[in-house]
Amino acid sequence: MYQRTVFITGGAGFIGSHVVRLFVNKYPNYKIVNLDALTYAGNLENLKDVEDKPNYVFEKIDIVDAAAVNELFKKYQPDGVIHLAAESHVDRSIHSPLDFVYTNVIGTVNLLNAAKDLWLGTTHPSGGTWEQARFHHVSTDEVYGSLGETGFFTEATPYDPHSPYSASKAASDHFVKAYADTYGLPIVITNCSNNYGPNHFPEKLIPLMIHNIIHNKPLPVYGDGKNTRDWLYVIDHARAIDLVFHKGRNGEKYNVGGFNEWKNIDLVKLLCKLMDEKLGRPAGTSEQLITFVKDRPGHDLRYAIDATKIHKELGWSPSVTFEEGLSQTIDWFLNNQEWLNHVTSGEYQQYYKKQYNLDAPK
Ligand code: NAD
Ligand code: DAU
Repeated sequence: MYQRTVFITGGAGFIGSHVVRLFVNKYPNYKIVNLDALTYAGNLENLKDVEDKPNYVFEKIDIVDAAAVNELFKKYQPDGVIHLAAESHVDRSIHSPLDFVYTNVIGTVNLLNAAKDLWLGTTHPSGGTWEQARFHHVSTDEVYGSLGETGFFTEATPYDPHSPYSASKAASDHFVKAYADTYGLPIVITNCSNNYGPNHFPEKLIPLMIHNIIHNKPLPVYGDGKNTRDWLYVIDHARAIDLVFHKGRNGEKYNVGGFNEWKNIDLVKLLCKLMDEKLGRPAGTSEQLITFVKDRPGHDLRYAIDATKIHKELGWSPSVTFEEGLSQTIDWFLNNQEWLNHVTSGEYQQYYKKQYNLDAPK
């Protein structure tokens, strides 16, 4: 008998797989159910090391399908939801905004409805109320818009999203808050800065650059490369989610970030330097691959998170420096080129079929 049953949505993705791993290993008394549609971003190879653990279950489900979501809530009766499933790439949102509305907005509302019906409309299997129930929505700093040269996003910064991605995440944050205010649903929201680390899908800046440096391909830097992002090691984000899910105050939102700002061009040059060293190439080799390309439309200039609240209230701070995290990340990609090859060849999408002997993912 498990102490808790926790749904982790998007658990086959980049951040979700780190959260699943942390919870499955740290909480053997919890049943962890990974709900994921296995879109192009979902990769069960990320979870090979935990897939046979007795407290881990995978359910292939599209959260846009309300009936399927309701069925899983009835089947497992979870008392926790950590919601990471999303369309997550800004560039894709510019070309296909509706996909972001379906998954990020409608998918989130489907989960909220199912949680509301279970936690506020039924008695707990033990006979009491759903005392431990909590819906943790994992969101982004992009909802706050763009900063100028100075200042930080705090939890009180007004929302000002610019891309279809950030607009969809802002909408989902508002729905989560609305379900707390209207129905009394127990919720917390975290808004995190840019993550990096193992298993990062190579469409995003850091893994794309690592991939292209390995293969001597051009390194596309958007615009003048002066856009700035605040980078956090993914395992530190997973630690923050664990803390807020268990100890965050009901109804609150918490910003998560590493106080670690980098202009894109400086970051790409640092990656080139570290990769030349690790690959034994002469200094300056990879920098020659840098190519300035057309800017992303609506490209936000600068993100920077003020993470004082989570630090003061919950004692969270990053466990690794950027230098350590970046070095470990490069080493991971160099030591796991099979993972990278499976992603670029599409073979990773066959893993589900092989492992579960079921239909191939969409
Ligand atoms: P990702 O794209 O790597 O993974 C998303 C996962 O969601 C995939 O496994 C995918 O299969 C699944 N998914 C997509 N649509 C689905 C659907 N309709 N039904 C069920 N599953 C679906 O994303 P990520 O980078 O790991 O981000 C995870 C969450 O964290 C997102 O909500 C994102 O907005 C948020 N976030 C990301 C970052 C970052 O830097 N990557 C920073 C802050 C917040
Ligand atoms: O801030 C949190 C967000 O970080 C998350 O909510 C998103 O899910 C996540 O994708 C990320 O969004 P960004 O747009 O900041 O990440 P991306 O890796 O796409 O780009 C980082 C910066 O690098 C951005 O300024 C655009 C630039 N860039 C990106 C790519 C892919 C390039 O210059 N060249 C590239 O090829």
